[in-house]
Amino acid sequence: MAIRSKAWISLLLALAVALSARAEEEPAAAAEGEAVLTLDVDSFDEAVAKHPFMVVEFYAPWCGHCKKLAPEYENAAKALSKHDPPIVLAKVDANEEKNRPLATKYEIQGFPTIKIFRDQGKNIQEYKGPREADGIVDYLKKQVGPASKEIKSPEDATALIDDKKIYIVGIFAEFSGTEFTNFMEVAEKLRSDYDFGHTLHANHLPRGDAAVERPLVRLLKPFDELVVDSKDFDVAALMKFIDASTIPRVVTFDKNPDNHPYLMKFFQSSAPKAMLFLNFSTGPFDSFKSAYSAAAEEFKDKEIKFLIGDIEASQGAFQYFGLKEDQTPLILIQDGDSKKFLKVHVEADQIVAWLKEYFVSAG
Ligand SMILES: *[C@@H]1O[C@H](CO)[C@@H](O)[C@H](O)[C@H]1NC(C)=O
Repeated sequence: MAIRSKAWISLLLALAVALSARAEEEPAAAAEGEAVLTLDVDSFDEAVAKHPFMVVEFYAPWCGHCKKLAPEYENAAKALSKHDPPIVLAKVDANEEKNRPLATKYEIQGFPTIKIFRDQGKNIQEYKGPREADGIVDYLKKQVGPASKEIKSPEDATALIDDKKIYIVGIFAEFSGTEFTNFMEVAEKLRSDYDFGHTLHANHLPRGDAAVERPLVRLLKPFDELVVDSKDFDVAALMKFIDASTIPRVVTFDKNPDNHPYLMKFFQSSAPKAMLFLNFSTGPFDSFKSAYSAAAEEFKDKEIKFLIGDIEASQGAFQYFGLKEDQTPLILIQDGDSKKFLKVHVEADQIVAWLKEYFVSAG
């Protein structure tokens, strides 16, 4: 994992640059009177042992995104300094020579990387929340509360479920037993990625069939079929179900930050990938989009991930793959670590045939 993700990191960073290009750079916060705790290799373990819930930003002084984050992170730390239970925000200069062992130990591969240390470091999760102060505060407050919240009424469901985000809810006949315990274990494991809830009443939920045989896991998502259910409460099976259900059949690479988590997932996946790049602002875009969605649908039983990217937003990917704008519309296939197949100036009505030829002949 460490080795293959190294090759991807420059692309992922390029993505991050493209996605946050709108924001202005701001100077770093002043050092004095900081609410953020500054740690180094000597103070790190003690701090982890002392604080049951600590957030650590691994940064490098030269990194632009780190500088932009600094004042937001500091304001969040101030706002959270009196929170009960305590939420401690810390930072480590991972670029400094003596702190390198920390960067290695915690597999820091890009800056900034933010991690959440729970239970004296027994449980470490990636911070996947927003990068501005209010967003950081809201996200972290949720992270210290229960991993799954009970939905007791339709009002609870409205308050807890954001229809632009993924929401995972366990529907139970009672809040006990193996299924419930397993669901809670998975919610605890994946809480930094998704919001979880549990209820006795499927009819409180905004989507899906209300007449269900309990227990059931229902996953609400803002794309494709909008709701999917699973009855398999085995922990590994539940993790797999969630992993497979939380990426759109076709991931969109544009400037919309809501698509960022899906892009990260797409590029981190080791599955074969098909990527169609074109100019979204041109007339034929709609016909390409529907032809490509149809192709993805045809291949849904294969483990192939699909992406459609706007040339206006995919500069980083173009550089990374050595593509040229005048080759669009183009399809790129990445199969394994190094194999790349390129079809330039593709036409909408050729897409399915060309993908079939490639994936069928490649097995
Ligand atoms: C995309 O198409 C629009 C409309 O034709 C055009 O104005 C724009 O320059 C194109 N973008 C690129 C990067 O070619």
